[in-house]
Amino acid sequence: MVVATHLPVFDRAGYFARMHPHRAYLLGVRVAETPLEGMYYSTDSPPATIRTHPADDGDDELLLVGGQSHKPSVDGVPTSERYRRCEAFAREHFTVESVEYRWSTMDYSPVDGIPFIGRINPFAEHIYVGTGFGGWGMTGGTAAGMILADLIAEDSSPWADVFDPQRLTPGASAKSFLEENAKVGGSFVADRIRALLAGLEKGGAAAIPPGDARVVRRTSQPVGLYRNADGTTHAVSATCPHMGCLVRWNDAERTWDCPCHGSRFTYDGDVLSGPAVEGPLYRQL
Ligand code: FES
Repeated sequence: MVVATHLPVFDRAGYFARMHPHRAYLLGVRVAETPLEGMYYSTDSPPATIRTHPADDGDDELLLVGGQSHKPSVDGVPTSERYRRCEAFAREHFTVESVEYRWSTMDYSPVDGIPFIGRINPFAEHIYVGTGFGGWGMTGGTAAGMILADLIAEDSSPWADVFDPQRLTPGASAKSFLEENAKVGGSFVADRIRALLAGLEKGGAAAIPPGDARVVRRTSQPVGLYRNADGTTHAVSATCPHMGCLVRWNDAERTWDCPCHGSRFTYDGDVLSGPAVEGPLYRQL
């Protein structure tokens, strides 16, 4: 069995603690200029990337503009603002005629920067994993296909040691491991305090503007309330079922996102992506 589910859906080897998530955003835009050849990646912080791709209508090209990557534990900038900044970058450098598509992704990077490809844990003889491509999935996924095919068919691969999920690289990974997991711990504590202090605004859920959401406290439990355009309120437990961090509202994609290890849920609480595998979050209403 090859587990190729982004973060492994069964994780007895603690992959969630050995990788850290970051989100990135991409727009598909039509521009007046002649399409670029090649792919470009800036050295700005956060970096931007541009490339072209055939549009659905076949005889036109879309410019793909990506960037604004960040760790989900870094709070303060709404997702809608991240998209706006990507569009501002595109308009600064091109004559944008229309924004046709937008996407976001959660990528995972191992603490030593090398993907995990090989046996999923030291005791698994026939279960393999490929994960932690850090946003370079076309490259890492291809490498994983080659290495895992060799391991399964030949029991060896010339590159297996480099990507071995059981490798120990304390020199390259200890600092990042400690920093990232300290951030998760900090987020856990800060969010609990935030939830304890939060209360329903005057007027209850009806005071939440349509299309917006809040995390509030109800009978000592943090609850995520989302009010859709017609005023219907959707309520879920705001506690992530993975390890108990508090989810945060993603205003552009109408999802609840966990800052600790990157799980995402619909506004109704169903799991969109792990490491959480259980769902939905308990619906309160
Ligand atoms: S606590 Fe780990 S993803 Fe939410």
